[in-house]
Amino acid sequence: MKLLLVAGARPNFMKIAPLIHELQARGKGTDEREISWKLVHTGQHYDYDMSKVFFDDFDIPEPDHFLNVGSGSHAEQTARIMVEFEKVCKAENPDIVVVVGDVNSTLACSITAKKMSIKVAHVEAGLRSRDMTMPEEINRIVTDSISDFLFVSEPSGRENLKKEGKDPGQVYYVGNIMIDTLHDSLKKLSAKGIAQCAGRIEQVSQPYAVVTLHRPSNVDVRETLAGILEALAEISKDMPVVFPIHPRTRKNIEAYGLMHIIERSKIKTMPLQSYLDFLALWKGAALVLTDSGGLQEESTALGIPCFTIRENTERPVTIEEGSNILVGINRQGILAAYADFKNVSRKTGRIPGLWDGKTARRIISILLAS
Ligand code: UD1
Repeated sequence: MKLLLVAGARPNFMKIAPLIHELQARGKGTDEREISWKLVHTGQHYDYDMSKVFFDDFDIPEPDHFLNVGSGSHAEQTARIMVEFEKVCKAENPDIVVVVGDVNSTLACSITAKKMSIKVAHVEAGLRSRDMTMPEEINRIVTDSISDFLFVSEPSGRENLKKEGKDPGQVYYVGNIMIDTLHDSLKKLSAKGIAQCAGRIEQVSQPYAVVTLHRPSNVDVRETLAGILEALAEISKDMPVVFPIHPRTRKNIEAYGLMHIIERSKIKTMPLQSYLDFLALWKGAALVLTDSGGLQEESTALGIPCFTIRENTERPVTIEEGSNILVGINRQGILAAYADFKNVSRKTGRIPGLWDGKTARRIISILLAS
């Protein structure tokens, strides 16, 4: 059996790495059905700190194919990936294309493969925000609608796919693959002694909050971005706020003339961090504030209170069982949640089922048995 594994953007790399490690480990075995694989990097993200640094952190080998598509409008980016990926599929003739997450690379490669009668496996299937203004929601729905293997990370995924009429025989609850990477990385951190980041954390007095922000609905609208920054500035009067800034967010803060809100506050900004350095940072935080999908799950896995700066989430288990709270995107909502956090309760939650670091093993076993 031949697999083509696809990754393209920052949130993909931590999901593809465990599959690669599992395949590398099985390659050494003798009695398994023969399985070969190649890695495709679409180049949707290309800067060192959006891409290569993760290959280093996760020990991902050089991709076999780099499509070098870069940024662009959704149509331009998606189309470029499809054109280039079709050539790779023709050359490699895989049995199954494995896509992860919900970025444009996920959508483009699943459509391309399916139209070439190649089976598609989607890791992190079934998540739904019900917010069709999110490009990721469109990517999820289309990818799931044509996938042959739907690997689900939380109970809502299975329910959503059932409601959408997917064949239950194609849906597998395998747990959350990002937690495989989290477990591996925690081991690496203790081996490495939190080298580089430790100095930075020591400069921040305890307890501290960590923020990430990059979603277009939050950072592309001036008023929304200003309100969120004002809330963070207010929180920073009470608790140090550490803020590694995504390139999209930095561009907009500068373009909208909002840097003064940060400069006049106690928010400590820094460039984007590698996965390991960022993990060293947020795992010691008292509170995480984010609009990322992955960090909602990762903070739940470590029981760290998380404010999700969004109106909805496609990851409801992080709220129902985990440490996550939806706080909306307005200044008042964020500050009201912070007042509760300080005075009433700190939500720590529990770890959802099968978020145990063995998801990649389950996925590869299912693919091999097919
Ligand atoms: C993409 C994903 C989103 C994910 C996010 C994580 C889609 C639809 N969205 O959004 O789900 O949460 O990645 O980062 O796929 N840029 C750089 N360097 C890079 C890549 C991009 O500076 O290596 C800049 C681009 O020039 C552009 C901005 O970042 O201005 C947006 O990048 P893009 O890849 O289009 O989408 P993201 O917002 O990153």
